[in-house]
Amino acid sequence: MKILVTGGTGYIGSHTVVELQAKGYEVIIVDNLSNSSIEVLDNIARISGKKPLFEKFDLTDPEKTAAFFKLHNDIQAVIHFAAFKAVGESVEFPLMYYRNNLISLINILQGMVDNNIRDLVFSSSCTVYGQPEQLPAREDTPVQKAASPYGNTKQVCEEIITDTSITANIRGILLRYFNPIGAHESAFIGELPLGVPNCLMPYITQTAIGKRPFLRVWGDDYDTPDGTAIRDYLHVVDLAKAHVIAVERMTGGNCKEKVEVFNLGTGKGMSVLEVINSFERSTGVKLNYEIMERRAGDIVKVWADTDYANKELGWKAEKTLDEMTSSAWKWELALAKKK
Ligand code: UD1
Repeated sequence: MKILVTGGTGYIGSHTVVELQAKGYEVIIVDNLSNSSIEVLDNIARISGKKPLFEKFDLTDPEKTAAFFKLHNDIQAVIHFAAFKAVGESVEFPLMYYRNNLISLINILQGMVDNNIRDLVFSSSCTVYGQPEQLPAREDTPVQKAASPYGNTKQVCEEIITDTSITANIRGILLRYFNPIGAHESAFIGELPLGVPNCLMPYITQTAIGKRPFLRVWGDDYDTPDGTAIRDYLHVVDLAKAHVIAVERMTGGNCKEKVEVFNLGTGKGMSVLEVINSFERSTGVKLNYEIMERRAGDIVKVWADTDYANKELGWKAEKTLDEMTSSAWKWELALAKKK
C-alpha cells in the first residue's frame, strides 16, 4: 500500500515515515525542503533499510500537484504535514502563512478528489483550543478564536476538510497534537530547527551543548504549582505511531464519521521546570537557565483528554518525559558530531 506523506522530511513527518515503513507501507514523500534537508532521506533509510520515494516540489503549485496525483493515482491515503509552523513568523507574514498552508491543502484535496483518493490524515494542533476554560481539553472543547495566523490556518484547514467531505468522497482524520518533543532512539532523525529555536526542547538541548548561553524560562508567576507554564509533552515516536493507526482506521473502513478528531498527548501536564528537571536527571547535564518575564501570547496551561484516542484508536502515548528529554539530547549530540 502506497502512502503519500507531505512534509515527510520534516520533524514529525520523518518519524512517521519510519513507522509506516516498519509496517510494510510504501511511502512517497513530497516536500519542497523549505525547512528540512534532503539528507533526511538517507537517515530514514539508515533506520528502516529503505529509502522512501521522494519528489521535490511546492504543493501550492496547482499544476505540479495535479500532475503528481495523476501520475500517482495508486496512492491509498495521504498524511499531510507540509506547512509553515512558526507562530511569531505567522504574525509578521500572515499572507505567506495563509497562502502556503491553505493553498497546499486545497491543491491536495483537489488532487485526491480528481483521482478517487479518499483518505486524508491532517496535522492539526492543540493551538485550536487556545486557553480552554476546562482542563483537560477534550475533542469537543470549543475551538477558540485563533491567537495567530498560524493557529488560524489550522482551524481553517480543519474546516476546509470538513466542508469538502460533505459532498466529495473524502474522509478526514484530524489529529490535534499537543507538544511533540524528543527524537528517534537511533538519533539518526530528530528536530532540525533553522536559526534560533522558539520551542522549549530544542532551546534546552542547544543551551546544554553550548550553542546558546542560557535558557530563558518565560515566566514563573503563573497560576500553576511551580509558577511556570504547563503543556502536554509527548514523544514524537508515540505521535508518529498514531498516524499509522489513523491510516489503518481509514483504509480499513473503520471510521465512525466522515471527519474524526483526535487529541494526541499523554494526558499529563508538565511545567517548564519539570521538563528542565527531567532533562538534567535523564542526561546528567546541568542546564543554565534564567527566569524572565512571561512571553507574549503564551497560554498558562493545557493538556489533553486522551480517552477518545485511547479508546477509538487503541493508541496511548507510552514514553516517559525522561525518555523524551534524553532522546532529544542524544539527537543534539549526534548533530554536534556531524559538524
Ligand atoms: C507553540 C505554539 C503553538 C504550536 C506549538 C507547536 C506559541 C505561542 N505556540 O506552543 O501554536 O502549535 O508550539 O509545537 O508559540 N518556553 C520557555 N523558554 C523557551 C521556549 C519555551 O520557557 O525558550 C516555555 C514556553 O513559555 C511554554 C513552554 O516552554 O510555556 C512550551 O513552549 P513551546 O515549545 O514554544 O510550545 P508552545 O508555546 O506550547
